[in-house]
Formats: sequence, structure tokens, C-alpha cells
Amino acid sequence: MARGTLGAGSLGRGVLGLGQRMSLPAVEFHNLTVRYHGRTALHHITGQVPKGSLTAIVGANGAGKSTLLRATLGLTPWASGSASLHVPRQRVAYLAQTSDIQRDFPISVLDCAMLGFWPSSRWWQGVGNGQRQHALHVLEQAGLAEVVHLPVGELSGGQFQRLLFVRAILQDAELILLDEPFAAVDTETTQHLLQVIQHWHQQGRTVLAVLHDAGQVRQWFPTALKLHEGRVVAWGNTASVLTAPITQSAALAA
Ligand SMILES: Nc1ncnc2c1ncn2[C@@H]1O[C@H](COP(=O)(O)OP(=O)(O)O)[C@@H](O)[C@H]1O
Ligand SMILES: [Mg+2]
Repeated sequence: MARGTLGAGSLGRGVLGLGQRMSLPAVEFHNLTVRYHGRTALHHITGQVPKGSLTAIVGANGAGKSTLLRATLGLTPWASGSASLHVPRQRVAYLAQTSDIQRDFPISVLDCAMLGFWPSSRWWQGVGNGQRQHALHVLEQAGLAEVVHLPVGELSGGQFQRLLFVRAILQDAELILLDEPFAAVDTETTQHLLQVIQHWHQQGRTVLAVLHDAGQVRQWFPTALKLHEGRVVAWGNTASVLTAPITQSAALAA
């Protein structure tokens, strides 16, 4: 894949200027609580994700990371409290954990990429030839030129994740939620996609990503949010969040 090119394409509507970044929230949590079958998975989450911020969500398995992303979009119902999105819904991209995505539906790589155009298209207009050429160009930048007509089920994990990033690029997403985007992805693709995320950040897009690799988080993410058993343990500067202990109060309250 040509390094450093994916994501650099012409993205018409633009995002926020530097001066506007970091001031307005893209997402606000107000005492957000989520329960599954009576068991609390997120406890009273309160805080703001500033526009233009780049945040890693970290925590052990079962801490509530995926639930937080899904509840942000209202895909998982809130038991109490709320999450407010201050970004148009059609400009939000969500890449679910790969294990949650069904890949056996009969759709080609190109068609799947072009779904990125749908949120901003009028359904009766369909996708125009210019958009199709743009999609092919971004797929090519992502190293997927040879597989554009294959069904998505035939892609490797790395190719599939690159396809999902291409779709987010075509969507011109302003808020991008990524759930373990590098699980089942080869090292080279991971490095490339980390650069794409960096590029999104430079463009002023807001990125929230669930990640497991502390080294990656330290190197690429200025802000982090640590969850433990559904509670926020630390949220802020990455270096301090990664070293923050699971405090006694959090443990006691759990
Ligand atoms: N659909 C669901 N039904 C019931 N329990 C769930 C569901 N999804 C997640 N949980 C539970 O909620 C808690 C948080 O899960 P999750 O958000 O997936 O954690 P993480 O992404 O940090 O691994 C876990 O205890 C998990 O078992
Ligand atoms: Mg998860």
C-alpha cells in the first residue's frame, strides 16, 4: 500500500479550523448508565469529548469499552443519563469490533466502500460516476485495487479493515468511532492505518478508538480514557492515564 496517501484525498466539506478545535464537544456524556439484563455495564459516565480530539479508550476485557461506543450512538439503550452527539449523524462513522461484523453477505468490495456515500446521498439519486471513480481511487490508495470486485468475505483481516477505513474516508466522517480496529490486522496495515488516524486528527476530525496496545496508545494518542468495570478510572493526558492506578475508590465503588 502506498504509505501516507490513504485519507489524504480531497475531502470537500472540510472539518473545523484549528481555532475552533478543542473547544466545542463532539460528544457529551451526562451520567450515562447502561444495563444488560439488570447488570450494570456502564456507571454514570460524565464528560466531554472535544471536537478535534484523538482519544484512546483502554481497559480490560469486559470493562465497557464497546458498550460506551455503542451507547454513544444510541445503538445500546441507556438505562439512565444520556449521550449527546454534536455532529450530524450522517457524518459519524462507526467501525464495530470485527468479530461483530457479518462478512458473509454477497456484496463486493467496491459496493461496500460506496456505502460510505449513502449517508449524504439522496436515495433516489444513487451513486454517480464521479463518486465511483473517487471510490476506486481511494481503494487503490489503500492497496485494494486488485480486489475491488471480490465479495468482502474473501478479504483477509487486514484488507477488510482497510476497506472499512476507505468507507469512513468516502463518508467524509467528522466523528470516527473505532472498536479494536487492529485486531486480526497485519503489522504493516496497522502502521498504515495509524497514520491514517493521525491524518484525520490533523484534519480536525474527532476520533475515539478502543485499543489494547499501550505502546500504540502512548505513541499515537494524546488523550486516553481508562475504564474499569464500567467506571471511568482516568481521562485526560495519555501518559498519566496509562499509569493511573485502578483507584481504591473505583474498585470499592465497583
Ligand atoms: N449484548 C450484551 N448482552 C449482555 N451483556 C453484555 C452485552 N454486551 C456486553 N455485555 C456485558 O457488558 C460488559 C461490558 O462489555 P463490553 O462493553 O463488550 O466490554 P469491552 O468492550 O470493554 O470488552 C461485560 O460484562 C459484557 O459481558
Ligand atoms: Mg469490546
